[in-house]
Amino acid sequence: GGVLHVVGTRPNFVKAAPVIAALRTVGCEQVLVHTGQHYDARLSDVFFRQLDLPEPDTHLGVGSGSHARQTADLLVALETELTARAPALTVVYGDVNSTLAAALVAAKLGIPLAHVEAGLRSFDMAMPEEVNRRLVDQLAELLFATSPEAVGHLAREGVDPGRVHFVGNPMIDTLLTHLDRLDPAAARAAHGLPERYGVVTLHRPANVDDPEAARAAARALTEAAAHLDLAVPLHPRGVTALRTAGLADAPGVHLLEPLGYLEFMSLVRGAAAVVTDSGGVQEETTVLGVPCLTLRTTTERPITVTHGTNRLVRPEELAPALHKVLVGAASTPAEGPPLWDGKSGPRIARVLTHWLESHD
Ligand code: UD1
Ligand code: UDP
Repeated sequence: GGVLHVVGTRPNFVKAAPVIAALRTVGCEQVLVHTGQHYDARLSDVFFRQLDLPEPDTHLGVGSGSHARQTADLLVALETELTARAPALTVVYGDVNSTLAAALVAAKLGIPLAHVEAGLRSFDMAMPEEVNRRLVDQLAELLFATSPEAVGHLAREGVDPGRVHFVGNPMIDTLLTHLDRLDPAAARAAHGLPERYGVVTLHRPANVDDPEAARAAARALTEAAAHLDLAVPLHPRGVTALRTAGLADAPGVHLLEPLGYLEFMSLVRGAAAVVTDSGGVQEETTVLGVPCLTLRTTTERPITVTHGTNRLVRPEELAPALHKVLVGAASTPAEGPPLWDGKSGPRIARVLTHWLESHD
């Protein structure tokens, strides 16, 4: 019986925290399984500590590998785990390989599946995440959408609308929960940054796996850093490529280890602008009202453009776009995306507990 959550990566932890907290409040029986897709302390432990996540009941220790290797290891480990636990419902988050593997295992074992952050689409199947999203949504019994667009995509793909729940964005619950603990001045001082600075994160394969793309990104950031000091906490995936591409030596570039959630969000909150290819960061900057330039050709989160601060840019557009942001008059903040109000966790918990009661 009960709910079994599967998490494995940094963004999973940020999304699961409010759902687990809300289910705890209503006394729901829950089990937390960490696949170990992310295992560095800075990508994993720090989030458990800072976000009040419970210690995982099981740690599968799957680790890194090619897509096939990693997914295969995840499938085998999760099959054993889910068979032994026999939950009433499995809950998965986002679009990472741990999400897909857990969904596939649950489906084959006949365990109903809930997908948090369903219906996002970049329409770019070259992104591993787009493959994961589409497949997971086909397997889910309950689909929790963060935006009206997502609800529309699911409808067009033939998903039964009765299964789809528009609940807002649990990642934003986490941000609003911890907003009072953010200290931009302290975070800035800790990294020797001037009062006006930018924050950069890059980790998508399209930007860092291909050396030519990494060089283009490094060139663009070097040019930008001549005008604005840049704090660049790099995911391990991007470190070697961007160092090799010469980013470390550029004046104004502060290369950093991946930051803990509170430190990272503190820096973002105080930033004049953010440059990123992250999914979550496009959303967080939208809510904080910090201008966001996304180094991608597509986004699965267009609401951050229509209702937020986000803009998609090519590398060669970055420096001019940043200049425009820095000289531009502070625009009146758009009314944020609907239901990004910090209450998504309780909304999801309500649907899950209702489902559990009616399938007892
Ligand atoms: C994964 C997700 C991506 C998400 C990102 C969030 C997939 C396909 N991708 O990408 O959607 O945006 O997490 O951060 O699931 N590594 C470490 N330490 C770790 C984990 C990984 O050094 O703790 C290094 C390893 O060299 C590994 C590489 O990073 O090969 C990639 O890790 P992986 O989990 O495969 O994908 P991410 O790039 O982290
Ligand atoms: N994040 C963090 N420290 C960092 C970079 C990111 O705490 O150095 C947080 C931030 O809240 C972000 C989340 O981790 O939204 C997920 O980030 P990531 O970009 O790794 O994943 P994506 O959202 O692209 O899948």
